[in-house]
Amino acid sequence: MQITFSSAALPKSGAIIIPIFEDGKKTKAYNDVDTKSGGALERAIKDSAFEAKKGKTLEILSPGELTNSRVILVGAGASKDFTALDAEAIGGAGAAKVLASRDKSAVFAINGLSAKKIDASELAARIANGARMKSYRFDKYRTKEEKKDKPALTKITVNTNATGAKAAYADHDKIGDGVFLTRDLVSEPANILYPDSFAKRCKKLVDLGVKVKVLGETEMKKLGMGSLLGVGQGSERDSRLVAMEWMGGKKSDAPVVFVGKGVTFDTGGISIKPSPGMGDMKWDMGGAGAVTGAMAAIAGRKAKANVVGVIGLVENMPDGKAQRPGDVVKSMSGQTIEVLNTDAEGRLVLADAMWWAQETYKPKTVVDLATLTGAIIVSLAHEFGGMFVNDDKLAKQLKEAGEATGDKLWHMPLTKTHYDMIKSDIADMQNIGGKGAGSSTAAAFLGRFVKDDVAWAHLDIAGMAWNEKDTATIPKGGSGFGVRLLDEFVRANYE
Ligand code: BES
Ligand code: MN
Ligand code: ZN
Repeated sequence: MQITFSSAALPKSGAIIIPIFEDGKKTKAYNDVDTKSGGALERAIKDSAFEAKKGKTLEILSPGELTNSRVILVGAGASKDFTALDAEAIGGAGAAKVLASRDKSAVFAINGLSAKKIDASELAARIANGARMKSYRFDKYRTKEEKKDKPALTKITVNTNATGAKAAYADHDKIGDGVFLTRDLVSEPANILYPDSFAKRCKKLVDLGVKVKVLGETEMKKLGMGSLLGVGQGSERDSRLVAMEWMGGKKSDAPVVFVGKGVTFDTGGISIKPSPGMGDMKWDMGGAGAVTGAMAAIAGRKAKANVVGVIGLVENMPDGKAQRPGDVVKSMSGQTIEVLNTDAEGRLVLADAMWWAQETYKPKTVVDLATLTGAIIVSLAHEFGGMFVNDDKLAKQLKEAGEATGDKLWHMPLTKTHYDMIKSDIADMQNIGGKGAGSSTAAAFLGRFVKDDVAWAHLDIAGMAWNEKDTATIPKGGSGFGVRLLDEFVRANYE
């Protein structure tokens, strides 16, 4: 998608998109287009039930005396609480309409549009970003789709007098690349994306200046990663551990470390999952996907901070060599784990990935992301990622980054009770709790692999990595949740 900003006259073809506020005050762009169309906009509003509420649109085809294909009015709600995220939603709503048409180009006409909480350049940039985010499509495996059924839109222009729009958009562009990378990874089926092929995709981040290290099974065995390796041992695919280093900050600063669960397919192992919906488990690498996309975003915009992304990549399969329920494994930390349920595998992967990351990079802050539990969906549905955290300041920083980016988090409980619930009769811990609080006991398990004095947050994104339906700026499918969150967290606290 080509994105441009222009203050020239509006083009004579393609779609024109005009945001309008609820209060009835029309923008200069609106009035100009209405006049040129011979009043077609006013007539259309009068003859329809259109109200300029958030997310509402009114499409006017062959608008009066204009040669453009259509004018799309997009409701912006009330101007007084209009935010950057609302601007993105407008971009998404406008783009959605054009994507459903045959138009190749669209222009957002926003002259005169202004709101208290966002300056004109950022407003333009956010509209463009929302439109681009909505235009994502994972269609590489559709070989028979006719051209007429594919969106034709290739060019989005924001028509604005704000001179800083292009500069304001530059970082969003890089962050958007990261979001798209994550959506691609999450969308790939597990016969294409498995630990080794995932690691190879990470290697592409070298082009952005990221240093990428890949550990294979032999190295991991030497390091004593019995917990991670146990999960992968029933699979034909070898496990991998990938570290992506972006050192854009001061040499002396310890890096902030992100760790991602990368189960490229989760059958449940011998504790096998029921067959309906199992295909969803191709995106059980959503945490690793988010960490990889975030590293691409952070490196892409050349963040002045030291950030390392570590992802544990395994496939959880049942076969003759697979781990059994009841097996005891030894993690790199030296702690032993009784594996009572082979479907509680993500935590086993993260245990070693997190330990290795702390040993290797000596971070003061670790944030892990994982599609860890079905229970978090019971708690928070698809509205928030669950945040479990051992440090109040870190909790606040992440919550704020979530609110700023729309990757929202909800602070969940993690107490001594949850740690007590994973005590084992024969090993240092077991990998499942008893009844109840399944997301908190999973978090407590991870907490056993966090070193003293490390501020740590665990983000359970099982309800967020995949969108069952379209939202304002995210088409159905891989959402890219976490990329913008982590990027903003770094920008606000480490740069
Ligand atoms: N990958 C799943 C969690 C999950 C469920 C992610 C639904 C996305 C959507 C995880 O490995 C898992 O199987 N968790 C079990 C844990 C249980 C065995 C303690 C679960 O949630 O049922
Ligand atoms: Mn599982
Ligand atoms: Zn899983």
